[in-house]
Amino acid sequence: KHSTVYQIYPRSFCDSNGDGIGDIRGIISKLDYLSDLGVDIIWLSPVYKSPNDDNGYDISDYMDIQPEFGTMADFEELLSEAKARGIKIIMDLVINHTSDEHEWFRRALEGEEKYKNYYIIKKGKEGALPNNWGNFFADCPWEPFGDPANGEYYLHLFAKTQADLNYGCPCLLDEIRNILRFWLDKGVAGFRLDAAKEFYSGSVTKNVEVLNWIQTTAVELKEDAYLVAEVWEDFGAITRYYESQITSIFNFAFGNTGGKLMQVLRAAGNSGTVATFATALEKADGAYLGANPDYIDAPFLSNHDVGRIYGFVSGDPLRVKMACAMNLFMSGSAFIYYGEEIGMSGSGNDPSKRAPFVWNDARDNGTTNPPPECTLPESYPFGSLEQQLEDEASVYNYYRQAIAIRNALPAIARGRTTCETALNIDCVSAYRKTWNEEEVIILMNISPDAAQADLSAYGDWSVAATLSADGNEIVLNGTTLELPAFGVAVLIPNA
Ligand code: NOJ
Repeated sequence: KHSTVYQIYPRSFCDSNGDGIGDIRGIISKLDYLSDLGVDIIWLSPVYKSPNDDNGYDISDYMDIQPEFGTMADFEELLSEAKARGIKIIMDLVINHTSDEHEWFRRALEGEEKYKNYYIIKKGKEGALPNNWGNFFADCPWEPFGDPANGEYYLHLFAKTQADLNYGCPCLLDEIRNILRFWLDKGVAGFRLDAAKEFYSGSVTKNVEVLNWIQTTAVELKEDAYLVAEVWEDFGAITRYYESQITSIFNFAFGNTGGKLMQVLRAAGNSGTVATFATALEKADGAYLGANPDYIDAPFLSNHDVGRIYGFVSGDPLRVKMACAMNLFMSGSAFIYYGEEIGMSGSGNDPSKRAPFVWNDARDNGTTNPPPECTLPESYPFGSLEQQLEDEASVYNYYRQAIAIRNALPAIARGRTTCETALNIDCVSAYRKTWNEEEVIILMNISPDAAQADLSAYGDWSVAATLSADGNEIVLNGTTLELPAFGVAVLIPNA
């Protein structure tokens, strides 16, 4: 649960059969790569059977695999091959809604009351819609249910092919429990919960109840099940959602292009803003912990719904590396979106945020076709993986090193975070992590200019690890730590 998690968008990751579409066997063929990178969990974006109206986020069968990705036997092999390398799999669980091609919806349309109850179906009010809500894809989240003459509508917060489920229905909860059991019994480690603030759109209290039910149910089925919820919200709301006692919630307050991390990075060199990074880490840790004493943070930079970091730092490789360290040195389970480790670009429409991972220059070693409507034929500005493997200073090698440091010093992922005020000066961001008897102090020069940190009051600490973004070494001259542009050092107490 204090892992490095790698999000795979299956269509664009690795193609094993030459049809241009990434697949499960492709993922199996890259497990050694992921293991070498230092990843311990894979979050698999949806691979369930789906008409693919929203890239698998419209599921028509929760217990089957989309044929273009492979078979259930392939999936089981993925689990066992991953396990052999100490890698766990978490599934993307899309249970706010189903596809309108799901059997439940079909049977509801055929008039079976039981299944009508699984969805949110309401009578219009005097010829008008049930209410005046908007939704994410269209102006109106209500679609006529069956014959329009009946005056019934079903709710869809997303596309009209994604019908919202009714969490007030006990039979539905039984079905969800069965889905959880099905995958946990197969050996998955847990789930990423899609759209977790839309179970009852607009009611945090009701959503917290649903999340608490899912958390409790999953843990009843498998004691150490890991759940991470997508609650696309600010710091205050995320704190409130932790009252559900869910293990993890993506830290949208820090990640994504509008989060704290990007805010600080874009102001690199501005000491006033840089200073707020460490204090914000301390504040968030305290608040989340107050809501759920067992919470495990889930920091990330980007995912399949948001622009990649590359564009937001105007393609500056030093800032791409800095973002990596800021993210991976956060506590909890830190997430990497596939391709982030080679500094991929991607922004604009959704397919362009989901461009192919480019394994080698010839693009014949598993590289997929771009997804339809991807406007970015070249999404690997720092070169293919093959090129970056050879280059010690590559973004890839920086990621690999950062993960190795994260894994070597357990307090980085497990520690409670406090701002190290005495060192958090100028453009050096400094914070301490404490876990049992272990402690580390992390110093990051979030600036394009070199900086120094005065360690004279830290005589009994030594530099355990460093990360150089620009190739210049981080050196300790007497009690002065020399940090080149965007340089990072991790201190540990002397034994
Ligand atoms: C959030 C997913 O990440 C997104 O890709 C999807 O479209 C919606 N939820 C609906 O499932």
